[in-house]
Amino acid sequence: MIILLLALLGFATADSDWIANPNHKFKNFTIDQLRSILTPLPKNFRPSINKLTPSNYQSTNTTNSTLPLDFSWRDTAPECMVPSLDQGECGSCYAHASVHMLAERLCISQEHHVNKTRQAVPLSPDFVMFCDPLAYGCNGGMISQVVDFLSEDSSDSYVPPLECIKSFGNETLKSCPEHKCPPKDHRLVKCKPGSKVQLFEVEKMKEELLKNGPLVTQMVVYEDLLSYQAGVYEHRQGSIIGGHAVLITGWGYNHKGEEFWEVQNSWGADWGENNGFFRIKVGDSEIATQLFGGALACEVISKETIFYERLFMQ
Ligand SMILES: *[C@@H]1O[C@H](CO)[C@@H](O)[C@H](O)[C@H]1NC(C)=O
Ligand SMILES: *[C@@H]1O[C@H](CO)[C@@H](O)[C@H](O)[C@H]1NC(C)=O
Ligand SMILES: *[C@@H]1O[C@H](CO)[C@@H](O)[C@H](O)[C@H]1NC(C)=O
Ligand SMILES: *[C@@H]1O[C@H](CO)[C@@H](O)[C@H](O)[C@H]1NC(C)=O
Ligand SMILES: *[C@@H]1O[C@H](CO)[C@@H](O)[C@H](O)[C@H]1NC(C)=O
Repeated sequence: MIILLLALLGFATADSDWIANPNHKFKNFTIDQLRSILTPLPKNFRPSINKLTPSNYQSTNTTNSTLPLDFSWRDTAPECMVPSLDQGECGSCYAHASVHMLAERLCISQEHHVNKTRQAVPLSPDFVMFCDPLAYGCNGGMISQVVDFLSEDSSDSYVPPLECIKSFGNETLKSCPEHKCPPKDHRLVKCKPGSKVQLFEVEKMKEELLKNGPLVTQMVVYEDLLSYQAGVYEHRQGSIIGGHAVLITGWGYNHKGEEFWEVQNSWGADWGENNGFFRIKVGDSEIATQLFGGALACEVISKETIFYERLFMQ
């Protein structure tokens, strides 16, 4: 019944699995508005011709892997997923993906006690946008450089919670803002110096994902991704409109035996499936390819800060 309905509406065909939302949230955006949420690609950019080169993409089946056929942090530790924020009309995907990686990895690294449930505390993308000297605020940034910044041996790269710096790129800040934290305990989070990892092979990415948590990566956005609603995305139509940074949270195989990544996006909880997530065929839209720097992660460290109101009360 549902399949028939979708077929009648013309957005499900025999060879495509994903479905589009005909009145998606970007429907009335102008091309300039769309470009403003994405990162510009170099003028000479060409998608790679062979997206699945054997050296980069060794299928799990060809090795004696002990990795599961599918895995998802969204399913395994939903308490450790931060809500999918909406970057709005601001090219801050790189900041969202990077700080969500820290927040989710910190939660995953904490033990799960019976009476003390762990919970991911969202961190501030604005901190990265305006405090990383090499990031360009709403005009984009490079995830590899951001992970370098977060890995510096400096207390200046500890990321505060979202509630301490929160403008959602709604205003363009001129400089790194003060932390204005409500008076309670806060945990500041960064990468352990020297712990940055950059991975180019599917197998290695899965091992790291399973062991330590989500991975940051980059991809190309074709027009049709904007209307994605559910299923395993594969580019069908429309041209390239820009680059984008996202967070890989899992993997699996669809009914055709095709490998996909499960990805958390930063276009709000009202986009995609499962409140802001999507699935995409491995290698499609260049996701995590060599061309886009593979996938990045780091080991998280944190420190607790007790703000002054609490000290005065003692
Ligand atoms: C786009 O514009 C049309 C016509 O004004 C409106 O009916 C529709 O709800 C809008 N869609 C979105 C997603 O804003
Ligand atoms: C898998 O393991 C078997 C036996 O241990 C070995 O003969 C085979 O070459 C291995 N295959 C790969 C792809 O490593
Ligand atoms: C968890 O809390 C409940 C209710 O407060 C208590 O009965 C139980 O013993 C606690 N369990 C542990 C392992 O602390
Ligand atoms: C900033 O965000 C607030 C709250 O979401 C909204 O009301 C306001 O219109 C936004 N301002 C701009 C300039 O986007
Ligand atoms: C992997 O192996 C399983 C079981 O042998 C098979 O069902 C699946 O289609 C294979 N996947 C790929 C991508 O070859």
